Amino acid sequence: MKPHPELNPYFENLTEKQKFLRKVFDSAAPHYDGIAVWGWFNSGHWYRRTAFQRAGLKSDMKVLDVASGTGLTAIVISEMLDDRQNLTCLEPSRGMIRESVKKLPNPHIQGVADKIGIADNQFDFLSMGFALRHVEDLLGAFQEYCRVLKPGGKILIMDVTQPEGKLSGFLFKLYFKHILPFLTKVFTRSNDAHYMMAYYYETMEKMVDPNDVINMLTEAGFVDAKRNTPLGMFSEYTAVKPQQ
Ligand SMILES: C[S@@+](CC[C@H](N)C(=O)[O-])C[C@H]1O[C@@H](n2cnc3c(N)ncnc32)[C@H](O)[C@@H]1O
Repeated sequence: MKPHPELNPYFENLTEKQKFLRKVFDSAAPHYDGIAVWGWFNSGHWYRRTAFQRAGLKSDMKVLDVASGTGLTAIVISEMLDDRQNLTCLEPSRGMIRESVKKLPNPHIQGVADKIGIADNQFDFLSMGFALRHVEDLLGAFQEYCRVLKPGGKILIMDVTQPEGKLSGFLFKLYFKHILPFLTKVFTRSNDAHYMMAYYYETMEKMVDPNDVINMLTEAGFVDAKRNTPLGMFSEYTAVKPQQ
């Protein structure tokens, strides 16, 4: 199942989607950390840390961070591990990897979520921050996550999803559809960065139902799949690979 339908004018059809994403993330990469800091009122590091604490990340675990981008989620993980080398980053965009290696000396693998070129049963924990919308095939990606995790291994998928309340939904739309893309354009003067943020909101509006995500995690072989919704606008999906 696709995470969302075709999004014109960004790409004509879903086969063009990955090409479009590479281009946008490659060129917007130098602006990404700045937008993530001021666009989220400097709360991203704190939020990610509390999410990993809630999900049960332990300091002796071996971790794969999928869609690691410029390393904003990976940095939080590496700070929580005894041995920072126990973290591997997986990311398709060269531009994003170029930014990430400036701050993280960990292994970086260039690749996509649906086709992870790593052997089975390698990791205790797998994370994906704010990238669920970008995968080609959700079930295929979740099957890959289950395959590379050790039995008993856990996942945490973080995402931003539209709040359900009328007022909160209105404010969410106002900020993410209009204010954030506009400020991105003003501060970065980059068309690609502006494009990245405008596209971000549209994917949020069209994302699959969270229940479908839970069902697909179960179909992929995970147990105990759950969704937690802190502040009403974050979705944290957690699940466990069965012992046998
Ligand atoms: C919004 S960024 C999130 C980066 C990071 N996880 C964070 O917390 O800041 C989304 C990332 O997903 C990556 N991405 C796009 N398509 C992907 C795919 N098919 N598989 C894995 N990652 C993908 C992009 O290149 C980009 O770096």
